[in-house]
Amino acid sequence: MLVDGTPHRTVDWADGQLLLIDQPVLPHEFRIWRTDDHREAAVAISTMIVRGAGAIGAAGAFGMALASRQAPDSSFDQYMKDAATTLANTRPTAQNLFGGINAVRAAIEGAGGGARPDDARDAALAAARAWADADAAACESIGRHGAELLQDGWGVSTHCNAGWLAFVDWGSALSPVYAASRAGKSLQVFVDETRPRGQGSRLTAWELGSEGVDHVVIADNAFGHLASHGEIQAVITGSDRVARNGDVANKIGTFGHAVIARHLGIPFYVALPAATIDPDCPSGADIPIEERGGDEVHYTWGVDDDGAFRRVRTSPASSGARNPAFDVTPGGLVDGLITEHGVFPATDDGVGRILTCARAQTD
Ligand code: MRU
Repeated sequence: MLVDGTPHRTVDWADGQLLLIDQPVLPHEFRIWRTDDHREAAVAISTMIVRGAGAIGAAGAFGMALASRQAPDSSFDQYMKDAATTLANTRPTAQNLFGGINAVRAAIEGAGGGARPDDARDAALAAARAWADADAAACESIGRHGAELLQDGWGVSTHCNAGWLAFVDWGSALSPVYAASRAGKSLQVFVDETRPRGQGSRLTAWELGSEGVDHVVIADNAFGHLASHGEIQAVITGSDRVARNGDVANKIGTFGHAVIARHLGIPFYVALPAATIDPDCPSGADIPIEERGGDEVHYTWGVDDDGAFRRVRTSPASSGARNPAFDVTPGGLVDGLITEHGVFPATDDGVGRILTCARAQTD
C-alpha cells in the first residue's frame, strides 16, 4: 500500500536486514525499524513493534532467514533449532507465526541443513520471501471475495487492526473494504478504538485515512448502540487463529460484537488467509489465549498538544488488572469465513473445504 505516495510492505527485507514498520509510534510518526539479528526480531514481535497475525508470521519467517546468516557452520542445525524456539516463544495465539517459522525450517532441511549451510541460507531467505509474498497475495484475493458482500452506502464495523499493517500487504478484514471502495462503493467504517492497545484508533484509522475511506473511531462499547440504530450493516473482523470446527480467536472484544450482531441480525464475517487455520486445533477451547501485562490496561500513551510522546496512568495505583489479549467467537455466530479461496461457512465442513483448496494450491 502507499504511504505518502511511496509503496510499503509492513514486513520486508533489504540488504540483509528485516525491515518493519514501527507500529507503536503510529499514527504520530512513520518510521522503519531494521535489524540483522533474529533475537532482535523476536523482541520486535513480543513488544509489538510488529503485530497482527500475517505480519508476525512474515517477521518470524524473515527472523529465521536472519538466524541462518548468524548460524556458525559448525553448529548450524542446533543454532537454527534454538532460533526457531526463540521466535516461536514470542506470542502464543497467532497461527501464522508458527506457519512462517516452520515453512523456513522445512526449506532449510530440504536444502540439506547443516550439511550444506550455504544452500540452507539461500533456501531460508527464498522461503521467507515466498511466505511473505503468499501472505500479500492471499490478502489481495480476500479483498476480491469480500468486496462482493458489501453494498454501496453501508456502514461497516471492524475491531482491532486487520488491515495491511497486520499483514504483509492489503490486510484481511480491511482488504474487502479497500477493494469495494476502489470499485466505487461508498462505505463508512466504524472503527472500534480497541482497548487496551488501541489498534483500531491508532492503526486502522490511520490506514483508512491514508486510503481515503470514510471512517469514524468509536469507543468499543458504542458498537451495540450504533448497530441497533441502523448505522451498521455488516461487521468484518480478522482472526489470529481459526480452529478446525470454525471457532475463531481474535482480538479481545470480538466475541461480544458477534453476540450483538447476531441479536440484531447483522452479518458478522471473519476474514483470514488459510494460513490462519490451525488444522491440529479441534475447537476454540484449544486455542492458547495470550494474557499480557496489566500495564497495558493501567496506562495509555499518545502525543500531547506540543507533539511530545506521553504515557499516562488512568487507574488507581493500587488497582490490579487483567489483560487477556484475545477471545474466541464460536463458529455458530460467524456468518462466513472470507478467505483467498472464497467465502465458506464457519463449520467443520467449511474449514475442511478451505484446507482442501489450500492444499490444492501448494501441490
Ligand atoms: O495483538 P495484536 O495486535 O497482534 O492482535 C492481532 C490482531 O491484529 C487482531 O486480533 C486482528 O483482528 C487479527 S490478526 C490480523
